[in-house]
Amino acid sequence: MTDTIAEHYANHGIAERILSAVRATLPPGTPLTADLLAPADQLHGRGLDATKELAALLDPRPGEHILDIGSGVGGPARWIASHFSCRITGIGLTGAFCSAAEALNRATGLTDHVTIVHGSATALPFADQTFDRAYSHNVVMNIADKRAFYREARRVLKPGGVLVLLNLIAGSTGTPHYPAPWAASAATSYLATLEETRDDLTSEGFEIVQLMDTTSQTRGARRAHAQRLEAGTAPVLGAHLVMGSRMKELQINVIRSEEEGSIGSMQALVRRPA
Ligand SMILES: C[S@@+](CC[C@H](N)C(=O)[O-])C[C@H]1O[C@@H](n2cnc3c(N)ncnc32)[C@H](O)[C@@H]1O
Repeated sequence: MTDTIAEHYANHGIAERILSAVRATLPPGTPLTADLLAPADQLHGRGLDATKELAALLDPRPGEHILDIGSGVGGPARWIASHFSCRITGIGLTGAFCSAAEALNRATGLTDHVTIVHGSATALPFADQTFDRAYSHNVVMNIADKRAFYREARRVLKPGGVLVLLNLIAGSTGTPHYPAPWAASAATSYLATLEETRDDLTSEGFEIVQLMDTTSQTRGARRAHAQRLEAGTAPVLGAHLVMGSRMKELQINVIRSEEEGSIGSMQALVRRPA
């Protein structure tokens, strides 16, 4: 099943597409930064705005070592590492995303700050108590065994370390539309409700600092983006550079599902007890 999930995201020439599209918007010779790539390398709804919200919850400190679980093409890791002077290790299941992330790290001169590892969130290849903090953005919807995901996150966090989650969740009515950005069909989609998420996190030993349904806050931005996609006025830089032309259909399906109540969104800040 994890092979099917990795294949859903996989794609050729990702870094080259992003770099050439971003460079086309800049004067020749402009040094590339995490901020300049951000319109194209954030693989979640609301782009950099959502990453900034995640970073505010995470509250990284200079010099800390932070884990990004399901790091995509490394956009959030590069932005957080460069704005908070911390070191980030990202782990991801999709080989093509890991290679793209490494190429984009090199292009932005961030290889000393962001390291990418190809592997699975449910069997993290890291020693116990390695990381000061951890985060995961729109990944848990691909995880059947959520307890294993949270157990592994807790294991590799230092005592007192926090985990921040921003995710889509199951809504209360109807059935999500597929293909969606995280899954080609219901067979690889594992949406949990907010209450199931709370149970799984507490069962695996996390203290809940904050766990909230953010659907009503995020809906407006998602709807505006879907309208731009439908009208053909979406920005030239976007997640379609990673996922290809199918991204339009995937993103429109997310907002249809959200409008109908079959999906929502959440954020959480949880702590491994000291
Ligand atoms: C929607 S993308 C989000 C990427 C990134 N967090 C971001 O916000 O830009 C989901 C990511 O989760 C990764 N993923 C899915 N299942 C995983 C697993 N079992 N272990 C590690 N990564 C996984 C995928 O490869 C993909 O990169």
